This record gives sequence, C-alpha cells and structure tokens, in this order.
Amino acid sequence: TWSPGNIVEKIVSDIRSMVGEDEKVLCAVSGGIDSTVTAMLLRKAIGDRLVAVFVNHGLLREGEDVEVLNTLKKLGINPIYIDASQTFLNALKGVKDCEEKRKIIGELFAKIFKDIAESDKNIKWLAQGTTYPDVIESGAVVGADKIKSHHNVAGLPKWLNLRVLEPIKYLYKDEVRALAIELGVPREWALRHPFPGPGLAVRIIGEVTEEKLGIVRKASKIVEEELRKEGLYQDIWQAFAVVGDDKWVGVKGDKRQLGYIVTIRIVVSEDGMTADWFKASLELLERISNRITREIPDVTMVTYAISSKPPSTIEPC
Ligand code: XMP
Repeated sequence: TWSPGNIVEKIVSDIRSMVGEDEKVLCAVSGGIDSTVTAMLLRKAIGDRLVAVFVNHGLLREGEDVEVLNTLKKLGINPIYIDASQTFLNALKGVKDCEEKRKIIGELFAKIFKDIAESDKNIKWLAQGTTYPDVIESGAVVGADKIKSHHNVAGLPKWLNLRVLEPIKYLYKDEVRALAIELGVPREWALRHPFPGPGLAVRIIGEVTEEKLGIVRKASKIVEEELRKEGLYQDIWQAFAVVGDDKWVGVKGDKRQLGYIVTIRIVVSEDGMTADWFKASLELLERISNRITREIPDVTMVTYAISSKPPSTIEPC
C-alpha cells in the first residue's frame, strides 16, 4: 500500500543500491519542495556523501536567498552557496526567446556542477528533483509532445559526465509534499507554491533586465501577501506577476507616464498538468491592482490572466 513512510524506505534503499560505497552525489537545491525532498532522501541514504549546492542565479524572488539558506540549514542540509547572479544575468543580456533563455540557464547550471565535480573526484552522480509532470511535459515520455524544456530534464549536456539520479521521478507534487512532511519538513514550507527552476526568467516576457526583475519581484510579493491575508494561499497552486515589454500610457499625479503592464496569474491545479484560472473576488483583484500601481512607480496597468491550461500554460514562458 502507498504510504509516505513506505515510499521513503523504498527510495532510500534504491539510492543505496545504485550509489557505490565511496561515491558522492551532487544535488542542486533551490529551496523548492522537489529539490529539498531529493536532498533529504539522499542524506538519509548516503549521509555526508551528499554534496548539496545552492546556486543563486539572480532570478530568485525577494529575500529568497537568505530564506532558503536558513530553512535548509534547519533541515540539516548545509549547501555550498554559490552566488552566480552576475554570470547568469550577463549571459541572458539581449536574449528574448523563451527556449533560448531556458537553454542558457540550463547550461550555466551544468557548468557550475562540472566545476564542483572536478574539484572532488568522488562525485559521480548528479541528483535532480525531477517529478513525473516534468518528465511528461519535457517530452521525455514516449509519445508525449514537448511543451517546455524544463531545465532539470532537458538541459544536461553530455560533457557533464555525471550519472543522473532522479529519486522522485515517478511522484506527483501532492505525493512529494507528503514525503516532505514525513521527512520532517515544516508543513508551511512543504505547502509553498511551486517555483520553476529557471526562476523569474520565465515570468519575464522578452529580455530579462534589472528593471523588469525589480517589477516582477515587487508585484509578486504583493500578490502573495494579499492572498495570505485572505487565507487563500493554500487553496492556490501558484500566484505570481508577469511583465513584458508592452507599455500603457498612464497618468500619475497630473503627469502622463508611459509604464509597464503587469499581468497577474493565479491558478488552481492538482498537479500542474492542467490548471484553472482562479475566480478571485473583484475586491481582491482591486486591492492587488491598487497596491501594484501605487507601490511600483513604473507600472501603469494591471491585467488578470483569465485563460486556463490548456490552452495556455501556467508560466508565460
Ligand atoms: P507550465 O508553465 O508548463 O508549468 O504550465 C507547469 C508547472 O511546471 C513548473 N515549471 C517548471 N518547473 N523547471 C521547474 O522545475 C522548469 O523549467 C519549469 N517550467 C515550468 C511551473 O511553475 C508549473 O508549476
């Protein structure tokens, strides 16, 4: 029978039978529930032969780097911290295409993993928190069409020369959350909304710039705060802001101002494979909109995304 305890035992024993006694496993952790559970399963299976690394790609949400490091430490995972923000942001300069952005980010991650692996010859494996929907949507299942190349499935170049370990590959998100709680992750952390590996790069349409990053960070924080105030956070699959390059003429004070358009996306879903746009109250939408245009000077229009998946996807990119 399916129980989180049984699944933990099974996965731990599978990891032990795959990883040789003097071999180490590199595991990139983002603070997201998938990679956190992956790292905790590995620690249980192979102890300090787990080498965890937290790469700050400069595409995290506000305050997220510190929050993630603190939480992981509390869970007994002390990752190597690499601040590669400038490298990622420089590499993304001028890049507008979605799949191109995903490819660049995936390759930069792989380069960082390679450098770490070269510094310790016992590192033979790379562990990733791939879940079943990632596998399906990246077209890795026979007969499935590629929708987006999730960097943790599609972006691993041959030169990396590490064997891949994907301990939660056959699990859906609700199952991963159940495992997290079984492993001692605080409920609140286990119930955080999913956040994509390529981070805010997939919530910015067109080129990633400091200006657009700042807008998405502030606006997403407002969306999250307002949902929490309403006690809605846990009913929602994901809620965030998106910004592109289109502008809307505004009046702020008595001055004409050309400002950004921010789109709010709030969806409910079971597993991310399909999703419905959330029928938020008009009052909630109004509060979010007013706060965004008031608190973010460069925004002159807020829109609400009212398309479900399908035909849209959840993230714009
Ligand atoms: P889409 O936008 O394809 O997203 O409807 C489905 C779910 O997957 C998440 N997502 C990602 N997760 N790496 C990840 O770890 C990625 O590259 C990636 N792209 C999308 C998305 O947030 C949603 O929950």
